[in-house]
Amino acid sequence: MTYILAIDQGTTSTRAMLFDDQFAIAGTGQQEFPQHFPQSGWVEHDPADLWTTTLETCRAALKAAGVGIDAVTAIGITNQRETTLVWDRATGVPVHNAIVWQDRRTAPLCSSLRDAGFEDTVTAQTGLLLDPYFSGTKLAWILDNVEGARARAEAGDLAFGTVDSWLIWNLTGGAAHVTDATNAARTMLYDIRSGAWSQEICARLNIPMQMLPEVRDCASAFGDTMPELFGRAVPILGVAGDQQAACVGQACFQPGMMKSTYGTGCFALLNTGSDPVRSNNRLLTTIAYQLDGQTTYALEGSIFVAGAVVQWLRDGLGLIDDAAQTAGLAGQADPGQEVILVPAFTGLGAPYWNAESRGAVFGLTRNSGPAEMARAALESVGFQTRDLLEAMQADWSGLGETALRVDGGMTASDWTMQFLSDILGAPVERPRVLETTAMGAAWLAGHKAGIYPGMEEFAARWAVDARFDPAMPEDMRAARYATWKRAVGATISFAG
Ligand code: G3P
Repeated sequence: MTYILAIDQGTTSTRAMLFDDQFAIAGTGQQEFPQHFPQSGWVEHDPADLWTTTLETCRAALKAAGVGIDAVTAIGITNQRETTLVWDRATGVPVHNAIVWQDRRTAPLCSSLRDAGFEDTVTAQTGLLLDPYFSGTKLAWILDNVEGARARAEAGDLAFGTVDSWLIWNLTGGAAHVTDATNAARTMLYDIRSGAWSQEICARLNIPMQMLPEVRDCASAFGDTMPELFGRAVPILGVAGDQQAACVGQACFQPGMMKSTYGTGCFALLNTGSDPVRSNNRLLTTIAYQLDGQTTYALEGSIFVAGAVVQWLRDGLGLIDDAAQTAGLAGQADPGQEVILVPAFTGLGAPYWNAESRGAVFGLTRNSGPAEMARAALESVGFQTRDLLEAMQADWSGLGETALRVDGGMTASDWTMQFLSDILGAPVERPRVLETTAMGAAWLAGHKAGIYPGMEEFAARWAVDARFDPAMPEDMRAARYATWKRAVGATISFAG
């Protein structure tokens, strides 16, 4: 038996999974690590935590499976995207904590660049919007605020990377400073059409281009691990940002196929094939995957709060002890009440991109209680997904009758998935294997290694666990969605 070791370095935890040659999971390791919030709106990770949890979870997965390193053919890496690191090339020591994708510290810089009319250039080249979410302004912030960083960067002494680059650098003992096209596409520094770093954007943000990693296809030779880490050098053959890896793991290989992952936030990707569709509805144009030099593009809708709304019910309001109770509670809600929750806790992502909005609840009565709040929380995830689907339909005529492939923690709830289908007016499919992100990274590496089948056979193995078809009458669907839109409109205007 041969195995692929998949590393999934996420926002709140690091996981490693060992897949056998039939895609069965033989062992896993998982570790949470601390989040740092130095100021309101700032979110950082200690780069050492990202690295040590990776190493330890890999070792734990091998141990849990009882598999020796000789049986591991290759490593695949998938990661939280956009999170920004800068380190010294000679010592490997980071000059600052990693600035996490959720961090809003560069909002003023983004506004001034927008006011100066620079957003058009950014969107035309990178497919993104001028938002603090992406790496470019975070990197500029480090160069502007860490003493001596700019001079060291200009002298060629510092390296920039997203989390994949940082892990590969450490796994290879500093031998490889590389990334893949999907991670590069989230930096706001990469021209997704020409497949090269943008000189114009780097110049505008004052970023020395010698800091940037070399960009490779998702299934490529990224480097070999140092033998002393696991007992043998193992090649790293697959890399993709986590949402793109989920798109691969969900086998969304045909234009028009779409996946939505419900973790802390929700990220929906629609495969648009070789066509980088420019959004007129504030969606992102991004790279879904790049294989054998061929780029496949996607439209992406990013929602910042999905599963996090359930955490808030539990930790903020104390309405539930366990996330799994939410759907049961929601099912007890009074059908006669229409409580709407807009979970804009950290502003609104796609398609609104309103950083100033904050959460709001509408329609409370004296009879509203925990059940109505639980229902409103779960429904908010469905309504936000409908916002994305509407924008995708408006942007791309290739989107016909499509089933949404879902994954992530919240999809375990049948109640939530039925509401999602009802409010979308489209079928929702939950796959049998829910570990789609790690599986996507494993497939990229295993395919490159020659132990996993090609796209078609991999896609044919994708199997549905449950399908949810819309059961809500059309007039009710329209009325409920119109109420949601009114609530979002009021939330945005309240923010001023
Ligand atoms: O764009 C951010 C996304 O990649 C984070 O994903 O699963 O680590 O919350 P996750």
